[in-house]
Amino acid sequence: MKDINWSKLGFHYTEPDYIVRAGYHDGVWEEPYATSDKHIQLHVSATCLQYGQEAFEGLKAFRGIDGKIRIFRWRENARRMARSAEGLFMKPVPEELFGRAIRLALEKNIDFVPPYGTGATLYFRPLLIGTTPRLGVGPGQDFEFVVIPSPIGPYYPGKFHCTSFIVNRYVDRAAPLGTGQFKVGGNYAASFRATEAAHAMGLDCLFLDSKYHRYIDECSAANFIGIKRTTNDKIEYLTPRSSAILPSITNDSLMTLARERGYKVTRRHIRLEELADMSEAAACGTACVISPIDRVLDPERNVTYSFGSEPGPILSELYRALRDIQFGRAEDKHGWCEIINEGAEGD
Ligand SMILES: Cc1ncc(COP(=O)(O)O)c(C=O)c1O
Repeated sequence: MKDINWSKLGFHYTEPDYIVRAGYHDGVWEEPYATSDKHIQLHVSATCLQYGQEAFEGLKAFRGIDGKIRIFRWRENARRMARSAEGLFMKPVPEELFGRAIRLALEKNIDFVPPYGTGATLYFRPLLIGTTPRLGVGPGQDFEFVVIPSPIGPYYPGKFHCTSFIVNRYVDRAAPLGTGQFKVGGNYAASFRATEAAHAMGLDCLFLDSKYHRYIDECSAANFIGIKRTTNDKIEYLTPRSSAILPSITNDSLMTLARERGYKVTRRHIRLEELADMSEAAACGTACVISPIDRVLDPERNVTYSFGSEPGPILSELYRALRDIQFGRAEDKHGWCEIINEGAEGD
């Protein structure tokens, strides 16, 4: 194992030994191969540079309590990347090729999988770019698929804690029928003006729907979850339905865990003012699993929605439940984890 201070790693890039690449030319995918060269030679007119033909993904491998390494729901990332590719008129990476590339990236960088107990994980950033040189506006026919692994530190190096959000009404990250449902670089570039302004105030950015600025869309680079108690004291897990948000694999997993616990799970348009009826709120995604929200500021309307300064009980429980599956502490009933080193003994 590499000599790294695992629990001090942030969400920053740490240079792995190898990345994995596979090109698509003349209608054929190359078999993924590992290379220690972290640079790609690109024509200056490549469609990824000229017209933003680029999609990416994010997923993790976890070293469990039993020493086994688990890759979490990679097929879902492969399928989402295929949808992103189709959304930008790129060639989708075949699912099995995606899986082979992730496994190869893991095997070639096995010493970068952080030890159990540090909270650190091995993150994979699959990337798909258009490489055909083209000056006339239009898509290319050549693509490069790359998997960049990097160990990342625990999202909560101290204790599980809350963050605060500010409502944004002056930047739309994606149009209702645009690319918001795809994981493409342009959405993120389009959001930076708002997210950086929020960060400068020590806050995160809550995006509203682009058409009416009435409904909750997404939290920066994460989905939104709210917890509400219904009139018959049932617990309701609420999450936005919107054509402009990324279908989060974490949110999908948490919804399954919520249903298993007998909670009502509802996906619908959520008006911003409904925050006042929620007992808990959070952002969710691969990086954090759940990031509880203590308050949402809406300075334009002079309103602050508060959820208490500590993470609430329902979201804390769902957070623990999902992490327990990822780190092999709980049964993986849904077959979400692919185990790489089946025979491994505890650390
Ligand atoms: C815009 C956006 N929404 C939601 C998510 C959460 O998705 P996932 O749970 O699949 O990481 C992410 C992160 O990937 C994101 O970038």
